[in-house]
Amino acid sequence: MHPPSLKTLFLFLILIILIIVAAMSFQNEDVSSFSEKTRNSDNVTAPSCSPRRNVMFLKTHKTGTKYVDKYQENGTSFNFITHHLRFNSVELKKVLKAEDTFYFSIIRNPVSQMESAFSFFRRSFPAFKAAKSLEDFLKNANKYFDPLKEGNNELVKNPMWFDFGYNNKVEYTEHEFAKALQNIQRSFDLILITEYFDESMILLKEVMCWDIDDVVTFTHNSRHEMDHKNISEDVASRIKKWNSLDWRLYNHFNVTFWTKIEEMFSPARLQEELAILRERRIFLEAQCSQDKPFIAKKPMQEFISETAFISCPTR
Ligand SMILES: *[C@@H]1O[C@H](CO)[C@@H](O)[C@H](O)[C@H]1NC(C)=O
Ligand SMILES: *[C@@H]1O[C@H](CO)[C@@H](O)[C@H](O)[C@H]1NC(C)=O
Ligand SMILES: *[C@@H]1O[C@H](CO)[C@@H](O)[C@H](O)[C@H]1NC(C)=O
Ligand SMILES: *[C@@H]1O[C@H](CO)[C@@H](O)[C@H](O)[C@H]1NC(C)=O
Repeated sequence: MHPPSLKTLFLFLILIILIIVAAMSFQNEDVSSFSEKTRNSDNVTAPSCSPRRNVMFLKTHKTGTKYVDKYQENGTSFNFITHHLRFNSVELKKVLKAEDTFYFSIIRNPVSQMESAFSFFRRSFPAFKAAKSLEDFLKNANKYFDPLKEGNNELVKNPMWFDFGYNNKVEYTEHEFAKALQNIQRSFDLILITEYFDESMILLKEVMCWDIDDVVTFTHNSRHEMDHKNISEDVASRIKKWNSLDWRLYNHFNVTFWTKIEEMFSPARLQEELAILRERRIFLEAQCSQDKPFIAKKPMQEFISETAFISCPTR
């Protein structure tokens, strides 16, 4: 059997500011077996399927997408766009011509998202720069943030809403908001959740008909644990208010995410898959990292782009 012919091949390369190569071990798998293979972990729910290869991944800002980056397979290819970009369905369809292109993204809790963004973009966003602290910014946001100002100003408020292609600086009526959500839901096949990263990878694997090793990720460019501040209730609620569009977006897709998980996995099977994923991560990290010690273990400086070199021995 021949592999499906490639309709499109993209590598949008890539002024990656925050880099990150995570991902994976496409060991030199034989292409024909790749397209024919059936799921090996569980054939109870779905006996066989073919792996999806045409993919658009909307890489939203500061959502943990540092974990999921460019997947490349030798010999054949995923038609994978993964880059920071602002979602525009019409424009994307011009370049992603495959009918079956799978659109997905990952979103993060706006509270930790903002804490992270504030710390990361502290020196580069004028609105953040002016504030003494995150608390100060939130208490006086309207003083520091000028919605009309251009330049490094887009991601200060409702950054995910912006990334999905909507106006992040205006109020929406219930009706407008519902309509926008519906559009996002229609445009995306899957929205994953950073806070449930491993569950997200398992769900992705299942929906895409990929192998577990296709979704094993390594952490790279994460801030040191210690850098993460405890966020007080007060600050958290101010952040939710400031980013109310993002907060509602997040809650909506958190629900759809778990609904999908429940549809596809029994609790026992989910735990089983998670255990396999974590085991493979440990195994592959040892096998594949060419950085010693692995880069994830090093404290990272902010504002640094780095690439991790990962190469896995063939099976
Ligand atoms: C799963 O597939 C294997 C190998 O094809 C087969 O032996 C087994 O009976 C299948 N299990 C179920 C539950 O269908
Ligand atoms: C891709 O495959 C070719 C031929 O099989 C091989 O020579 C080359 O080294 C591979 N490249 C990578 C990046 O694995
Ligand atoms: C955060 O809060 C937890 C529980 O209140 C505490 O154990 C921990 O030390 C705090 N961490 C920091 C960095 O303040
Ligand atoms: C997301 O959904 C899970 C499962 O229902 C729930 O436990 C969690 O509190 C939700 N997160 C938020 C921020 O609502």
